[in-house]
Amino acid sequence: MSALVTLNNGLKMPLVGLGCWKIPNEVCADQIYNAIKLGYRLFDGATDYGNEVEFGQGIKRAIDENIVKRSDLFIVSKLWNSFHHPDHVKLNVMKNLKDLGLDYIDLYYIHFPIAFKFVPIEEKYPPGFYSGVQEQADGVIGTERVGLADTYHAMESLVDEGLIKSIGISNYNGGLVYDVLNYCRIKPVALQVEHHPYLTQSNLVEFCKKNHIQVVAYSSFGPQSYVELNSEVAIDTVPLFEHPIIKKIAESHGSGITTSQVLLRWATQQGVAIIPKSSKKERLLANLKIDQALTLTEEELKEINNLNKNLRFNNPWDWMNMKFPIFA
Ligand SMILES: NC(=O)c1ccc[n+]([C@@H]2O[C@H](COP(=O)([O-])OP(=O)(O)OC[C@H]3O[C@@H](n4cnc5c(N)ncnc54)[C@H](OP(=O)(O)O)[C@@H]3O)[C@@H](O)[C@H]2O)c1
Repeated sequence: MSALVTLNNGLKMPLVGLGCWKIPNEVCADQIYNAIKLGYRLFDGATDYGNEVEFGQGIKRAIDENIVKRSDLFIVSKLWNSFHHPDHVKLNVMKNLKDLGLDYIDLYYIHFPIAFKFVPIEEKYPPGFYSGVQEQADGVIGTERVGLADTYHAMESLVDEGLIKSIGISNYNGGLVYDVLNYCRIKPVALQVEHHPYLTQSNLVEFCKKNHIQVVAYSSFGPQSYVELNSEVAIDTVPLFEHPIIKKIAESHGSGITTSQVLLRWATQQGVAIIPKSSKKERLLANLKIDQALTLTEEELKEINNLNKNLRFNNPWDWMNMKFPIFA
């Protein structure tokens, strides 16, 4: 099993979990169940991933077979952009809980700092980039005038009600993280952001550490996840798995050490939590057992840090040409 980190609210969170974005519905229940059998305890889901019903079925099977108890698991979900209005935040979490078959979520993130127009669950769920028939026809996303502090305070009420244990923020830049600290009553325990050697975000990581907010890396393999989405920038970028520096470091740690392990260990050695997604059993195991596999030297960590190009693959600037400049 993964090492645990203690969050600023005292709860313990596994440093390594399984990312659930793009796990196809037809295999999701089996994947969650098999990952629990392999030792995974944290699962990073979201409203937007559209697979929480199957995700919940995998959990139920593992609990029914006495492989784990609910309290052994750390379940993560995320509020989608269409539910930012304080009147709609609870609606979203109640749907997550119903789909997952759970009565609480361990960590609930605000997925993006952008409020879309509300879409009733009966109309489309998850709504994704849909925000109404007219907007769809016009090829735009409808937005709502909701401040992030209002959404955040509604998340705090979910903690008060026991529906979620902890609040997370995702895709926030430094200014927004700084701002939350000024208006929150319950501090966010974690910031989930894109983080890999092409986008090291070292200032943000340092700021979060100083303020006891756990950084969780997504897309640790950089372009890999976005090649599947036909992203031009991802296709045109040297894959991190094949980068000569990463390859050299992997080779220097002996046979059997892979470039993927170097990328993941680079994050965990900085105290950054990881949630790599894989649908292959051997990769699931290798990704989970990262800390036992290798330790990078200070020199190697520096070499990897130097690959930074501030290159982002997941950017709302590109969403349907809506030009949301959240990372400027
Ligand atoms: N908050 C957000 O906005 C946000 C955005 C993106 C992602 N996330 C979260 O972060 C998780 C991880 O990010 P991600 O899914 O974008 O990408 P990722 O974990 O960086 O990469 C996944 C890709 O790498 C492959 N892979 C996994 N392990 C490997 C290994 N050991 N060797 C070689 N290839 C390997 C997978 O293929 P196979 O499946 O075929 O093994 C898949 O193509 C997501 O699932 C999601 O939970 C959050």
